[in-house]
Amino acid sequence: MESDSNMQLTDGTYPVDLPVNDYNDLSSNPEEHFSYLDKKKLLNLPQNEQMNMNQDNIGLLPLFDDDECTPSLVILHAPGDETQVVAVYLHRKWWSVDEVLKTSSKFRSGLVVVGSIMERIVLFLMSQIVFGFLERTPGEHLYFSPHPMKEFAKIFWQDGEAVGFYTIKKKGTLCNRWTGQSYLLPVLDNVFVRMQWRRKGLALQMLEDFCSSFPKEEVVGLSYPMSASMHEVCRKYLQIHQEQRDRLYEVESPGDWSQRRNVWLKLQLNHHPTNSEAHESEQLGSSSNEHCNK
Ligand SMILES: CC(C)(COP(=O)(O)OP(=O)(O)OC[C@H]1O[C@@H](n2cnc3c(N)ncnc32)[C@H](O)[C@@H]1OP(=O)(O)O)[C@@H](O)C(=O)NCCC(=O)NCCS
Repeated sequence: MESDSNMQLTDGTYPVDLPVNDYNDLSSNPEEHFSYLDKKKLLNLPQNEQMNMNQDNIGLLPLFDDDECTPSLVILHAPGDETQVVAVYLHRKWWSVDEVLKTSSKFRSGLVVVGSIMERIVLFLMSQIVFGFLERTPGEHLYFSPHPMKEFAKIFWQDGEAVGFYTIKKKGTLCNRWTGQSYLLPVLDNVFVRMQWRRKGLALQMLEDFCSSFPKEEVVGLSYPMSASMHEVCRKYLQIHQEQRDRLYEVESPGDWSQRRNVWLKLQLNHHPTNSEAHESEQLGSSSNEHCNK
């Protein structure tokens, strides 16, 4: 069996640093790709492991929630387990998920607005693969829906790696494809920090960044339902920024006054989940409110 060692480039360039003008340039043309697979190849993985590539462990993941013509990402997953994504096919090469989340650009540092196609893919991987499967804690009950193609988002880059992100539903953007309703205020929709970088103040920085981005808005929102950990981030934020206590609301879309609950008041009244309650509700099989993204 032929061995294929093109898992990674060795010059320190990562997929996000390579230019892409169009989603079609990602070489995710399924026909081309699957005919390549007919040759039955082995993929070299980090740590000297090898994986047999065949039709059964290659999948296509739609990148966006917008419409049926959404571009897809070609992924390699563990045999029999589509949730264990091992590698991603980009720029005509296979890359581990960790490599796709890296950058060699010094300009990607701190919170950076998602602009390029490759940054969209980094956002997708963190939201759907890393948070969705690879770094899922037992008892975690939240999932993020794939983000629309044009959704405003920032990635937190640290030491050459994407370590977290947040997305915003801007005031005036449509709530979904089925109703004509649009958001009545800016809403912080999804927030995520990778496991290894948690409890280092990154979510707090993202919340501060979001709240300070809309100085003219009397009220800003956080998408309902907020996780137990996010309630604690808000508590810390509102202890530091007391002047924001009247301004931060948990909201359901589109966010009229009957759909807003003041976060500080909720915390004072203990009307919020704790991490242990979230775990219990998962064990009891509760499946309400799993999706943070509406
Ligand atoms: C929620 C989340 C984004 C927090 O990210 P983070 O970078 O670890 O949070 P921070 O380090 O900024 O936390 C700031 C403060 O919030 C509180 N806090 C954060 N996570 C907490 C937790 N799990 N338990 C208790 N308090 C917590 C602490 O007071 C913390 O300050 P400290 O570490 O000095 O004590 C992260 O846990 C995550 O990605 N969770 C999964 C996705 C999720 O729940 N997203 C929110 C959707 S609504």
